[in-house]
Amino acid sequence: MSVLKNDLYLAEWGWDIPGCSIDRMCASGLTAVGFSVSHIASGMADCLIAGGVEHMGHLPMGFMRDPHPRAEELLGGPAAFNMGMTAENLHDRFPEFSKETADAYAMACQEKTDRAIVAGKMKDMIIPIEVELADDTHIIADKDQQPRPGTTMEGLAGLKTPFREEGGRVTAGNASGLNDGAAAVLLMSRSKADELGLQPKMRWVASAVAGVDPTVMGIAPVPATETVLKKTGLTMDDIDLIEINEAFAVQALYFLNHFGLKADDPRVNQWGGAIAYGHPLAASGPRLVAFLCGLFKENPAARYGLTTMCVGRGQGYSMIWQKEEG
Ligand SMILES: CC(C)(COP(=O)(O)OP(=O)(O)OC[C@H]1O[C@@H](n2cnc3c(N)ncnc32)[C@H](O)[C@@H]1OP(=O)(O)O)[C@@H](O)C(=O)NCCC(=O)NCCS
Repeated sequence: MSVLKNDLYLAEWGWDIPGCSIDRMCASGLTAVGFSVSHIASGMADCLIAGGVEHMGHLPMGFMRDPHPRAEELLGGPAAFNMGMTAENLHDRFPEFSKETADAYAMACQEKTDRAIVAGKMKDMIIPIEVELADDTHIIADKDQQPRPGTTMEGLAGLKTPFREEGGRVTAGNASGLNDGAAAVLLMSRSKADELGLQPKMRWVASAVAGVDPTVMGIAPVPATETVLKKTGLTMDDIDLIEINEAFAVQALYFLNHFGLKADDPRVNQWGGAIAYGHPLAASGPRLVAFLCGLFKENPAARYGLTTMCVGRGQGYSMIWQKEEG
């Protein structure tokens, strides 16, 4: 779910600001970014805020789903509607990614996340808000709710495999969690930025969306990234920073392995990823874009960055960005 007109009223920007909501499940927010980019490029708009919000406790995944009676048959079975099952399918198809490799990846993700949070890396991109909890108390939410510092291999090894009772490999520890989140990015044309005297931080270069077999949806960032690289004439060697949404460890491992990158490649998710922060679906894409923007600042020699994610029912969305000097 992306930003609705109601949310614009809450922002108190006035009646005259239009808006719309977009649905591409996990990549709804990234699609909002993509639509904004094309609106700006076509001259339809000069300045847009693209974001996503998800309250997964309030509106669980699949809430009020009422699919076509033949949907499951056409999409290849029940896994098409259960993302954890698609991750188990990936483990089946690529047995080189064992549960231990997935757990090791997850533990490293928690460590990177903890280091980034303790160092205050994303402090200037978080807007603290007052929220009301179920017991009517109020707190200031100024950090992500999901990270689990101190995660160990032993702790991960003992977790249940909810998507396959016998012989499963996907657990709460090596999957992204179900949590709440909201993220947005400000996009504008160069002329608008010049008019406002703003220094752009990065420039959109190209996007690509790919479709794959829904029962192994986690592979889709690979064809999406291959397409976007081909469009730009770049190769993975040219990409200095990679922000991949870790819906599941196995799915991120497949992507890295495909492009010849090690699981601990320093270009990848330097501040950690969705296994630690969670994956509040529509918020995740703009979070990747915001993290990349922050990481460009931290990595002055970096030139190109990639944001990529898989999407339920078999899609992948990749975007390449270029650092702006200044
Ligand atoms: C995997 C999943 C089902 C787990 O849900 P859950 O059971 O509500 O998760 P919880 O946070 O309660 O964790 C379950 C257990 O694992 C433990 N756990 C979670 N992460 C852990 C970690 N890093 N280290 C040790 N223990 C951990 C929890 O403490 C909890 O233990 P308990 O049962 O003793 O309380 C859920 O996160 C999920 O569906 N994830 C995938 C989401 C998805 O499909 N997104 C779209 C992708 S395209």
